[in-house]
Amino acid sequence: MAGGQEHWDEIYGARSEDALTWFEATPSLSLDLVRTHLRPGEPFIDIGAGASRLADALLDEGFGPLAVLDLSAAALAVSRQRLGPRGDGIDWIEADITTWEPDRDYAVWHDRAVFHFLTGAEDRAGYARALAAALRPGGIAIIATFADDGPEKCSGLPVVRYAPEALAQELDRLLPGRLEMLDARRHMHITPKGNRQSFQYSVFRNADP
Ligand SMILES: C[S@@+](CC[C@H](N)C(=O)[O-])C[C@H]1O[C@@H](n2cnc3c(N)ncnc32)[C@H](O)[C@@H]1O
Repeated sequence: MAGGQEHWDEIYGARSEDALTWFEATPSLSLDLVRTHLRPGEPFIDIGAGASRLADALLDEGFGPLAVLDLSAAALAVSRQRLGPRGDGIDWIEADITTWEPDRDYAVWHDRAVFHFLTGAEDRAGYARALAAALRPGGIAIIATFADDGPEKCSGLPVVRYAPEALAQELDRLLPGRLEMLDARRHMHITPKGNRQSFQYSVFRNADP
C-alpha cells in the first residue's frame, strides 16, 4: 500500500507536529461536530489521528472514554509525549484502518484526512468493514476529506477528493443503506505556511437498527 507505516513514521520523525500541513492548534470544526453528537461517558474514536490535538481538547472538556488510532507509532508517540500522564486513560491503537478489527463499539467515529488517502477500492472496502463493525447503532461518523476543489496530493501521496454528495454515494456503495447523512460543511484549512486547503466535513448516522 502506498503511504504505509514507514512513510508516515518518516514524516512524523522528520518534522515537528506544528510544521505539518494538516496541523491545527485547535481543531475547531471537529470539536464543534463532536460536541454536537457525543455525550460525556460515551466512547469516541479518532481514526488516523496522527498527532492531532483533538483528544487533548476532548479530555479538557470531560469527554471519554477516548481511543486514538493511527498506522504510525511515531505519530502516536508525539501525542503520548505531549499529553503525558493525562493520556494514560486513552486507548492508543497502532493499526491500519483498512484491516483493523475493533473489539468494542463507539458512539462517535472521527476521521480527518484519512479516508481520502484510500485510492484503492479494496482499501476503501476494508475501511468500511471497520466502520460498520465499530459504529454502534445510532452512532455518528464524522468524515473530513479534501473537497472536490481541494489539493490533489497530501504529504506526497495522491488523494481522492470528495464533494459531500460524492462521499455519501461512495459510502452507500460500500455499506448500502447503512449511513444516513445528517450534516455537511465546507471548510478552508490554512496550513502553517499560509496555504489554503479546501475540506469537506460530512456527518453520518448509523441507521442500522
Ligand atoms: C493528513 S494526516 C491527518 C492526521 C489527523 N487526523 C489530523 O487531522 O491532524 C493523516 C494520518 O492518517 C494516518 N494514516 C494514513 N493511512 C492510514 C491507515 N491506513 N490506517 C490508519 N492511519 C492511517 C497517518 O499516519 C496520518 O497520521
